[in-house]
Amino acid sequence: MCGIVGFAGKSAAKDFLFEGLHRLEYRGYDSAGIALLNQDKFNIYKTVERVQALKAIKGFDNDGGALGIGHTRWATHGAPSVENAHPHTSENMKFAVVHNGIIENYASLKAELEAEGISFKSQTDTEVIPQLLQKYYEGNLIEAVREVTARLEGSYALGIICTDFPDTLVAAKHFSPLIIGLGEDANIIASDVTAIVSHTKKVLYIEDGETALITPNSVTVYSADGTALERTPSVVGWDVAAAEKGGYEHFMMKEIHEQPDAVSQTVESRIRGREIVFEDIKLNGESLKNINRISIIACGSAYHAGMVGKYVLEETLRIPTEVDLASEFRYRNPIVDEKTLTIVISQSGETADTLAALKEAKKRGSHVLSIVNVVGSSIAKASDDVIYTWAGPEIAVATTKGYSTQLSVLYLFAVWAARMLGTMESEKIEALFDELRLLPKKIKRVIEAEPIIKQAAKKCGNPHSLFFIGRNTDYAVALEASLKLKEISYIHSEAYAAGELKHGTISLIEEGRTVIALCACERLFDKLLSNVKEVRARGADVLACATEGNTVIEAEAQEVIYIPKTHPLLSASLEVIPFQLYAYYAALYNGCDIDKPRNLAKSVTVE
Ligand code: F6R
Repeated sequence: MCGIVGFAGKSAAKDFLFEGLHRLEYRGYDSAGIALLNQDKFNIYKTVERVQALKAIKGFDNDGGALGIGHTRWATHGAPSVENAHPHTSENMKFAVVHNGIIENYASLKAELEAEGISFKSQTDTEVIPQLLQKYYEGNLIEAVREVTARLEGSYALGIICTDFPDTLVAAKHFSPLIIGLGEDANIIASDVTAIVSHTKKVLYIEDGETALITPNSVTVYSADGTALERTPSVVGWDVAAAEKGGYEHFMMKEIHEQPDAVSQTVESRIRGREIVFEDIKLNGESLKNINRISIIACGSAYHAGMVGKYVLEETLRIPTEVDLASEFRYRNPIVDEKTLTIVISQSGETADTLAALKEAKKRGSHVLSIVNVVGSSIAKASDDVIYTWAGPEIAVATTKGYSTQLSVLYLFAVWAARMLGTMESEKIEALFDELRLLPKKIKRVIEAEPIIKQAAKKCGNPHSLFFIGRNTDYAVALEASLKLKEISYIHSEAYAAGELKHGTISLIEEGRTVIALCACERLFDKLLSNVKEVRARGADVLACATEGNTVIEAEAQEVIYIPKTHPLLSASLEVIPFQLYAYYAALYNGCDIDKPRNLAKSVTVE
């Protein structure tokens, strides 16, 4: 996720900005930049290398400007490049801006400004902000910021400087993190406390919709209507290491907790009124009509997201959909042609097998749509169309928010395509759309049940092996839950389609074996209940996951974790959460290296 820093002080700003960006490196980035105001003009330093490279740019080390802003960019709109790196400036070079978040209505704002004769230097959504400041500014900086932010839709944390105000930094926040640090003869801003704690532990929090006017000796926070607000500073107790993880012990836990926001960002940034808009994709109603098969290709958890996608796409589009492991697909002479839509799923966008399979599908004439988290990655570049998941950088090796946002894009795509193809009754598709928008809140509720799940993981201890069973999308979740548990806790587990148990595996069920029964699929609940009875009769201990209101399961399972009711096609998004937490706690109790499990890499760039 992008990181921003800002400094208004009486000494050279570059030292804090440089160190602050270093501290924010853990958030992941592809380029970095700093703007310093010196003698009424901006000096801008940018790099597509590491933050360290800023130091080597001519003039940086001697730049004594005492006002400045800095940024580490995680590309969303526009590939990683010097032009797209922040800070961005207005055409008249009066304003420089750093931004974390996504401006959802940037395309229409950009068109408006271009029609007025403004020319843009980057492909970013952010550049509309300095250009709008230029348009609205009439000498009152905070007023101009207020007018501009009123026109922005989406999320932002902003650091703004203006050549007319050599000691003033303006900050604004709406759904993206921003903190103000109160120092001696210098006040600072940053995306998180990591960049601040080595300077000061005294911080001010600003809320969504608020702006702040920051000088070396004063900070004034304003509400959206311009009223000056009283704010009492807080004292941060964290050290740098704790701050990087947002106070959580591990990145994985932090990322589990980021899921409501990541899903919301992924979904809401594509919605205009009730329309779903995928910017810049070539696929449309006409080309979709020519598709007679969908082939989903991915590895690991992304493959499990694809399995959920199969159920969702077949139900909504009535197009036969296959899911393949990329490592199998690439070597099996697949039947794919120009009537096949290939959907490639990858968090990193660099997985070697997935990339090779993509190329194979393309060679055979298929249109490739990829669902990727990393902008400008190899898979994104090689695809005909890309829909990005806006999960932000994922640092823990085991994916959580990457997987959840992949599911969200698949749901969005299903609704978008079903509306165009008319393959589902409109009432049904609109009900699915409405429920999709409620997912972030419901995911949050599941995360709040963490103490119950922690207890269940503790009780289960360190079994030799356990089983996950489910049907339909519950089966797809069983596979993901089992993978999560194996990879980080090193506990062996098997995921089984519940109906398959009696074809062999049930011989492994014995007294004391733990079976985790995923029961969210209400249509098949009675079938699953029979499977639960079968394993109970052979002495298994059953932990079930069911939707709220399903009390029938309590008679059979020793323990039940409840998730909120949702649309049947969306339940995987809620059901997976308890088992991310379960795997996390099982790994914690087993003393495993949670963020970096043995033998695993975050990005598998070799075959
Ligand atoms: C499991 C996990 C992996 C990845 C797989 C594909 O937690 O993270 O199974 O899902 O290696 O990676 P991407 O999505 O980067 O292609």
